[in-house]
Amino acid sequence: LDNRSIGVFDSGLGGLSVMRHLIDRFPNENFVYFGDTARLPYGTRSKETIIKYVKGDMAFIDTFQVKMVIVACGTASSVALPQLPKQLYPVYGIVQVSADAAVSATRNKKIGVIATETTIKSASFEQRIAEDDSGVEVYPVACPLLVPLVENGCIDDELAALGVEKYISQLRDKDIDTLILGCTHYPLLRGVIQKAVGNGVQLIDPGVETARFVERVLQSGEVEPAEERRGEHQYFVSDSVYNFSAMGSLLLGKDIAKQVRKIDIERY
Ligand code: DGL
Repeated sequence: LDNRSIGVFDSGLGGLSVMRHLIDRFPNENFVYFGDTARLPYGTRSKETIIKYVKGDMAFIDTFQVKMVIVACGTASSVALPQLPKQLYPVYGIVQVSADAAVSATRNKKIGVIATETTIKSASFEQRIAEDDSGVEVYPVACPLLVPLVENGCIDDELAALGVEKYISQLRDKDIDTLILGCTHYPLLRGVIQKAVGNGVQLIDPGVETARFVERVLQSGEVEPAEERRGEHQYFVSDSVYNFSAMGSLLLGKDIAKQVRKIDIERY
């Protein structure tokens, strides 16, 4: 058994949509979450900048005893993960996990992907899907308005529906049966997105898939699970604790204010 923590990081709040599923599914595990709120958004920045940020994020996570790290940010998984030096523990990205899940889920081999501009430009989903099954057609759409909508709390109102429609309309004639929510902010728009695509399209939620994936990793013995006990959760941010705690508590459905601390990410 291995009581070291599972590290999770994102550019901000979005990764909490992954944390939610992880803490539910693995009550014994310790988790350390970092949200780089001072430098958000990552999704519109250059590859070089994101790699620099992600190296800092990893250096901070490294100050804890971790046994695995989840990159709970589509953008960081797309452009920085392949460039990271080899770590002493496994590092998994939500892009790779979600792409694999979508390939297993599709029946007609037509998959839509919605994500940030940088993720779509990197073609990370197409690459991974082609490695899994070269017969799958992929339809990527960059959705730059969706992260600001979520960050401003528009998740189930008219504005959210308009924003989602702007992008989903581009997929209507593609006959997709599976749609990857390729950014960790998007599961918060799940209801609106499902309505826009219709019930015939299955949504691939990175949080749900990551929890399934981590379960397989822990069961396979590749990484040992923690002993039977109640795990601890720590949250760190690089900007205001207050904003993160308020939205974070809503997203996780429990008050995390006491567990959130601010750090100076420029030191890492
Ligand atoms: N959560 C990030 C992602 O999954 C998007 C937010 C950002 O642009 O920083 O790509």
